[in-house]
Amino acid sequence: MRHLLSAADLTGEQIGSILNTAEEMHQLQGRAIKKLPTLRGRTVVNMFFEDSTRTRTSFEMAGKWMSADTINVAAKGSSVSKGESMRDTMLTLDAMGVDCFVIRHPSSGAVAQAAGWVRAHVVNAGDGTHEHPTQALLDAFAIRRHFRQLGTEGWVGKKIAIVGDLLHSRVVRSNVLLQRTLGSEVILVAPPTLLPTGVEEWGCQVTHDLDSVLAEVDVVMMLRVQRERMQGGFFPSAREYTEFYGLTPERLNRLKDGAAICHPGPMNRGLEISSAAADASRSLILDQVTAGVSVRMSVLYHLLGGDDSQGATR
Ligand code: CP
Repeated sequence: MRHLLSAADLTGEQIGSILNTAEEMHQLQGRAIKKLPTLRGRTVVNMFFEDSTRTRTSFEMAGKWMSADTINVAAKGSSVSKGESMRDTMLTLDAMGVDCFVIRHPSSGAVAQAAGWVRAHVVNAGDGTHEHPTQALLDAFAIRRHFRQLGTEGWVGKKIAIVGDLLHSRVVRSNVLLQRTLGSEVILVAPPTLLPTGVEEWGCQVTHDLDSVLAEVDVVMMLRVQRERMQGGFFPSAREYTEFYGLTPERLNRLKDGAAICHPGPMNRGLEISSAAADASRSLILDQVTAGVSVRMSVLYHLLGGDDSQGATR
């Protein structure tokens, strides 16, 4: 694997390989000493041009736990704030001998563009409203573990509802691509104003009525209302949004036995998800966070761990 830019880059076999290696990495998280020599001598630069808690920290931990040298570069504090272009910044760091860039950027497509400039491997850690492939992988990891615990392993026939602000979500795009590759059925639920253009071509059932599908799904994935990306009124009021699209305590009671709740975080408690749902025993939200480290270890391992002849060797 040269880069990980989109969930569409991954075959079912590659997804299985990443998730299976992540299972091995997951064992390490339970140990007192969390260190493997796997990526000793490799350098991973986390370049975040947009805020992050989970993704940046888990990539840093993933690199460190595999003995890579990890360096964080933020736009603020780098020469980007003096007007240096992203291209010149990337070329400068690439010239130092970086093996892998993990990039988050507010513009859709910026990470793929950056991958064309450098010799190092590139991982998309979220680009605008486009994609967040490692989020979809960690979601699949947490959901697969949940299904295994229930004794209902396998994706075919599983129904996953993705609910909320789909318009501004990179998580939904990566999840639809990844889950459809795996074989599950994705149901998209949103008000008309928060549906992306062309969504009818994504190969998913689309509905505005959460209550009509809630009782039949195996997973309900709630998405954050991204108020920072909204300039106009996409819904009349927060109260009305919660009434129609929130995972309220009443809706929590209508989920079928064994159905799991996911949310990529950060959450707006009381808006798209109630605390009763976020903290319920069927909530996988903290399992998703835990999975973030093991899945990102696996992704770095797949990019840097083996024969790197097509990668960043100089
Ligand atoms: N889910 C996610 O990408 O969270 P962060 O923005 O905190 O990285």
